[in-house]
Amino acid sequence: MFLSRRPRRNRKNEVIRNLTQEAWLSKNDFIFPVFLCEGTNKKIEIPSMPNIYRFSLDTLLDEINECRNLGIKAFAPFPQIEEILKDSVGTESYNENGLYLRAIREIKKNFPDVVLFTDIALDPYSSDGHDGIVRNGEILNDETLEALGKMALAQAQAGTDCIAPSDMMDGRVGYLRNILDANGYTNVSILAYTAKYASAFYGPFRDALESAPKFGDKKTYQMNPANYKEALLEASLDYEEGADILMVKPALPYLDVIRLLKDNFDIPIAAYNVSGEYAMLKAAIANGWLGEKAIMEALLSIKRAGADIILSYFAKEIAKVL
Ligand code: PBG
Repeated sequence: MFLSRRPRRNRKNEVIRNLTQEAWLSKNDFIFPVFLCEGTNKKIEIPSMPNIYRFSLDTLLDEINECRNLGIKAFAPFPQIEEILKDSVGTESYNENGLYLRAIREIKKNFPDVVLFTDIALDPYSSDGHDGIVRNGEILNDETLEALGKMALAQAQAGTDCIAPSDMMDGRVGYLRNILDANGYTNVSILAYTAKYASAFYGPFRDALESAPKFGDKKTYQMNPANYKEALLEASLDYEEGADILMVKPALPYLDVIRLLKDNFDIPIAAYNVSGEYAMLKAAIANGWLGEKAIMEALLSIKRAGADIILSYFAKEIAKVL
């Protein structure tokens, strides 16, 4: 039969398939989120995230070293703060001897080649479990910025490479950029959680940190999952305010938004393959309902959608096969 186009010719063997493959995953694409807790010699598995642990600082250093040897060199640590240290304004977040700032210093001292993306938001330190300061049930924007500013400056002093505001307060990228610059930290980058949705896929993460909101939800600051164009507004603001990297979160249910930002902005786009996305695949694989290959396919779809950088709990295990 005469067919002028036979797309199958470009699929006829593996070498040709590889030559014509459009998107590839590499170890260089990944940032590994890791959970940190107080204590020593701790490595506690998160029930809803098989093979993901809460580490005390000593065991976290071992974990980071293992990952480095596998070729993963970028990490996003998140702290589980003890309940008694939490208050309404997140004072513990800029306590120099607090868990998180100690960890930043130790990690950078032990592994100068490792790059840290440190979290800026109140929720791990907040007695209300919200990303901002709460008054009469309302999440205050501008008062929260002041708290985030102290946190950002403390992290810069501790030696972070990049701050990653995950709070979704208005104006925080510009506010934090100014504080960093005014204090001489012009080299500290900002990865902005630009289009962060009020998602049901964060459940396992909040279990891991015991950071779930004590009342209400996060819908007055995180984006409505139904919205697409609004992501352009958030991205324009973060871009104008000086973000170095824009991020979409979650990743898999928002591939269209990743593509939207990739096509409209000339800075790198990151995507956060969140805890619920990890739990979902792991659960299906554990049940024998899906094969392991589903992981690679899911991660590849994030890359194909336009993400330059992927935050994923799969980073370590995927590094072993890349
Ligand atoms: C909070 C924060 C969340 C995640 C990262 N930072 C949860 C939330 O917004 O409630 C979720 C990450 C994940 O689910 O893997 N600042």
